[in-house]
Amino acid sequence: MRLTVIGCGYVGLVTGACLAAAGHDVFCTDIDENRIDLLKAGKVPIYEEHLDAVLQRAARENKIVYTSDAGEAIRAGEVIFICVGTPPKDSGEADLSAIDHVARQVATEARSPKLVVEKSTVPALTGVQLQKALAAYSPAGGIKFQVASNPEFLREGTAVADFFHPDRIVVGVEDEKSAATLREIYRPILEKKFHCPIHNGKCPGSTSGELLVTTISSAELIKHASNSFLALKISYANVIADLCERIGADVEEVTHAMGLDPRIGTQFLKAGLGFGGFCFPKDIQAFIHLSAAVGVEFDMLKAAERVNKQRIDRFFEKVHKALWVIRGKRVAVLGLAFKANTDDIRFAPALEVIRRLVEEGAEVHATDPQAIARTKHCFPNVAYFDDPYEALKGVDAALVCTEWPVFRDLDWAKAGHLMSRRLVIDGRNLYSSKKMQSLGFDYYSFGRS
Ligand code: UDX
Repeated sequence: MRLTVIGCGYVGLVTGACLAAAGHDVFCTDIDENRIDLLKAGKVPIYEEHLDAVLQRAARENKIVYTSDAGEAIRAGEVIFICVGTPPKDSGEADLSAIDHVARQVATEARSPKLVVEKSTVPALTGVQLQKALAAYSPAGGIKFQVASNPEFLREGTAVADFFHPDRIVVGVEDEKSAATLREIYRPILEKKFHCPIHNGKCPGSTSGELLVTTISSAELIKHASNSFLALKISYANVIADLCERIGADVEEVTHAMGLDPRIGTQFLKAGLGFGGFCFPKDIQAFIHLSAAVGVEFDMLKAAERVNKQRIDRFFEKVHKALWVIRGKRVAVLGLAFKANTDDIRFAPALEVIRRLVEEGAEVHATDPQAIARTKHCFPNVAYFDDPYEALKGVDAALVCTEWPVFRDLDWAKAGHLMSRRLVIDGRNLYSSKKMQSLGFDYYSFGRS
């Protein structure tokens, strides 16, 4: 099938690449011409495992085309996936101006009927507005557009693997024809008929995931309800960690045992600096906002958001306790990305940590396997090191902000010799307290004594 992807960010590029791998002809467009030029030159503007290989293969097989001419891309596809950003406004409400812009573009540029699919995360009832905008801007109402919602559940860092091996594919539709079209688009993924870069070509087993057909409003709600629930789970674990510190219990022992109950599950109970990234913080805000707008107070989400914001305060309580005065101290920040295996620093706790360290007069040494280039734009005066051991030379303390494997595997015996003082404040509970203490470190983490 011929598919158009509007927006070449994390979601759009992964969607375009993986749908091309599924055998479709994909036309990608973006208003950022530099990004399109980079893609045409065979470069990938973001770091996402396997994306490079999937895009290269799609280009070799002539399955993917990039163009900055949105009209050309819109006319080329039978189905249009909207993958543009929906950032938060100051009020927390999702800013849907990019979606509105695309709707007007599709309506005016299309010359034949299209199925227009929302893939960007949007609040419930956006589909209704999208349908209205498409009808309103179509010249003389001449072209019939169908709308569908197909939320993504991709985690950054494992987005390609998630796309190819979904737990579920949700399609919210208005009619059976749209459901059949989307089922056809995803058939190669569900039947594992694509070249899988993770499994060297062929995935084990014959089918994966389940395609669920719902109403558009349900599909929109499923996305926000899922992300907000996961965010709630993390904040819950973080409050348990605070309790553990007061009581003298160990949060890892508590959450591990809790998680063995299949009704709870072990995932997303990791205590620490809390959640960041471009999804959870904005989705939880947008969901609170949407709920209030329709007269439902979602107080528990407000509490989860408050707990998350306070994680940095809790972290700095530890930093002050351990380091006493920050002014004039040299401090290493290990990890800048909001989580491991990505170069994304949007709403990353590490940025707020650096901001406060700089404000309090510390000299910051920062290191990260992928996110240095992006962070340099925000903090040009911080010293950056590719090698974590270089970053640790002569520092009074190391602050761990991201759970990268390279930090988990650091040789602290070696690092201890490089540091001015053996002090580690771990925002991700990466190390055994006993081991760090046996190496002579003053070691602080979350929810463990
Ligand atoms: C999330 C959803 O998981 C994905 O389904 C959705 O489509 C997009 O948003 P992502 O933002 O890539 O994906 O990150 P995720 O792996 O879910 O982690 C989110 C944040 O929570 C990270 O900052 C992570 O460090 C933090 N986290 C996660 C915790 O603090 N504790 C945990 O136990 C798990």
